[in-house]
Formats: sequence, C-alpha cells, structure tokens
Amino acid sequence: MRKFSKSYLRRTREGMWDDSRDALSDLSLGDRTRVLDAGAGTGELARVLDDETPGDVVCLDADPELTRVAREETGLQTLTGDATRLPFADDAFDLVVCQALLVNLPDPAAAVSAFARVSSDLVAAVEPNNADVGVDSTVAAEVPLERSVREAYIEGVGTNVALGDRVATLFEEVGLRDVRTRRYYHQKTVEPPYDQHHLESAARKANGAGIDAHETELRRVLSEAEYDALRRDWREMGRAVVEQMREGRYRRAEVVPFDVTVGRAPEAA
Ligand SMILES: C[S@@+](CC[C@H](N)C(=O)[O-])C[C@H]1O[C@@H](n2cnc3c(N)ncnc32)[C@H](O)[C@@H]1O
Repeated sequence: MRKFSKSYLRRTREGMWDDSRDALSDLSLGDRTRVLDAGAGTGELARVLDDETPGDVVCLDADPELTRVAREETGLQTLTGDATRLPFADDAFDLVVCQALLVNLPDPAAAVSAFARVSSDLVAAVEPNNADVGVDSTVAAEVPLERSVREAYIEGVGTNVALGDRVATLFEEVGLRDVRTRRYYHQKTVEPPYDQHHLESAARKANGAGIDAHETELRRVLSEAEYDALRRDWREMGRAVVEQMREGRYRRAEVVPFDVTVGRAPEAA
C-alpha cells in the first residue's frame, strides 16, 4: 500500500471544495443520517461532509497514523480498517463515499462492492483523472518535466491512477443503479505572496525530494540513466522556481479534474 504523509494530503487538497460544492449535489448530503468516508486519510473530505450533512460522519483508513491525525483534527469517529473488507454490518450507512481511494487500490471493484454492502442507499466516489492534469508555469521547463514525471509515474504505479471516468462502469459492474457523474475542477495557484507550503514545495523541487518520493514507481519504467537525467533536470527546474520566487515573479496554475460518481445500492433503487 502506498503511504501518504499528512503534509502531502494537506498540500494536494488545499482549497478543494472551498470554491464550489455543486459537484457533490448527488450525494444528497442535506438529508444523510450516517456517512462513511472510506480511505479518509487525514479527513480532508470528511470535514466537508461534516459541514454539509446533519448526519454522523465516520472516517476509516488503513493507515493508523493518518487515522490518528483525522481523529485529532476533525473530532469525528475514526477507525483503522481495510476499505475492501469493511468492519460494518450490511446497510450500516446511508452514504459511503471515498475520495482518491479507488485510484490507489489494486482491486477497486472489491472496495465498491464493500461500499454497496454497507450502504442502504448511496455510494459515491470522488476520483481524480491524473492523466488530464493541466499545469502552467512561469518556469518554462516545469510544464514538460511535470508531464514526463506524471506519465512515467502513471505507467509505473501499478494501480489505475487515471481511473477517472471509468468509475461509472465499475459502479454498474457491481450492481449499483442510477449511476451519474459530475466533474469538479480543483484549481490551485501559486503566486505572491507565497505561503509556507509554496516555499516548501519549491525547496522539494530544488533538492530532488519531490522526485525521490516517487522513485520506486519511476524506476520501474525509466532506465538508470533516464532517471538520473530526469532528476538532474528536475532539480535545475526547482532552482529556477526558487530564484523566481526570490524575485517575486513565480506563478504556477494547476487544474486537477475529479469525477464525482454516485450510484444507488441495488435494494434501494
Ligand atoms: C490519496 S489518499 C486520499 C485521502 C483522502 N480521502 C483525501 O482525499 O485527502 C488515499 C488514502 O487511502 C488509504 N488507503 C489505501 N488503501 C486502503 C485500503 N485498502 N483501505 C482503506 N484505506 C486505504 C491511504 O492510507 C490514504 O489515506
């Protein structure tokens, strides 16, 4: 199982759902009574769910460290467990939802089946389409380098991190009904004045830590010479980012498309 750090989740979810929650409308949050966030991580989505629903929100994650952070920071009920073998009775919730979980599982259908078993009504998945991420930057080399890293990572990671619009088919295959999908675009910008996250992220580019975090996956598809060249170019790009930040002229925009897929448990349809 790929490990996620608290700071990675914080950074990648920053501002998500703050601009608009329209894409969550099919989750019917206004009238839920008991909601499970599966693969909740540090509870980034669970906070949004808790804001929007009068019901109880429960967080489950396989990583006990992230579960602890979610408990301390959200005050919600949390537990450590496997999303493909949920430790709950049938129909224990009226909504089971995950965000960026299925793309990280070797068998996402097993998780969706487990969601359908423990939900009396709705099942939902908010999954990124990592193949369609758009980046623009004042450091020209950043755009093609990020694309190269993303493509090699997607090939090397072993799970379908570009699952995106395939989730609806997956839902139908496990028997969910009335399946519908809405798209949310998570937009992130870096511009002056830079905050602590922006400065740390630039430092991670310049010292190679950002690439090193994906070393295992990248080495599966790149030769030693290709990996070393990519890392060298990446660090050089990072130094240019740091330099532009010092001069207050660095700007970066990123758009990550997320598909929000919702279906109804068979007996509820
Ligand atoms: C990309 S993170 C997403 C976290 C959170 N949903 C969010 O959007 O910020 C994926 C999460 O799935 C968890 N995870 C991976 N495999 C799991 C499994 N089989 N059961 C439960 N959680 C799992 C990881 O520990 C991690 O917290």
